[in-house]
Amino acid sequence: MAVRLGDTAPDFTAETTQGTIKFHEWLGDSWGILFSHPKDFTPVCTTELGYVAKIKGEFDKRNTKVIGLSVDPVDSHVKWEADIAETQGTPVNFPMIGDADRKVSDLYDMIHPNANDTLTVRSVYIVGPDKKVKLTLTYPASTGRNFDEILRVLDSLQLTAQFKVATPANWKDGQDVIIGASVSDDEAKQLFPQGWNTVKPYLRVLPQPNKK
Ligand code: BEZ
Repeated sequence: MAVRLGDTAPDFTAETTQGTIKFHEWLGDSWGILFSHPKDFTPVCTTELGYVAKIKGEFDKRNTKVIGLSVDPVDSHVKWEADIAETQGTPVNFPMIGDADRKVSDLYDMIHPNANDTLTVRSVYIVGPDKKVKLTLTYPASTGRNFDEILRVLDSLQLTAQFKVATPANWKDGQDVIIGASVSDDEAKQLFPQGWNTVKPYLRVLPQPNKK
């Protein structure tokens, strides 16, 4: 069954390039990103894993652990990681799940038979410290993901978990935000004493509350 926003992220135990991982225990109090790849030794996946390795420090800053997956086994991932280090200039510095028995792929509905009946699609799940699913994305095998966008969403998710605000189209960390639709003006006065700009009664804009 599909994993949907607000669901508890299914827990699992899996073999990875960094040893056996029990997913929820491994996440601890961190945020987490679980993302799947169709297959080892493929070009787009090689660039994606290299890029995630390069920006791992950005995930660390956001208290977020990253973990990859494909339906190939761990020994294959280990061999492939040598190519990734050579061609992408960075060793893979996060665990990769070997899911040859498709246990995790099936749990997260990462195989879409009408696209391909054996390979995982490019899925992304962002999981909060409460283990609830905060974001899902599905890309086809032919399109590499934009991991800068995933960082941007993570910034929005972490901000909106802390403050009763929402983030507008194309928002980036540091830009103005919107007071959540469920917040009355009276409540907003308590929450945001610095004030806001009412563009329309339903569109109330203010500077990002945790920035100067
Ligand atoms: C790739 O990563 O390049 C890829 C993987 C599976 C199918 C097509 C492309």
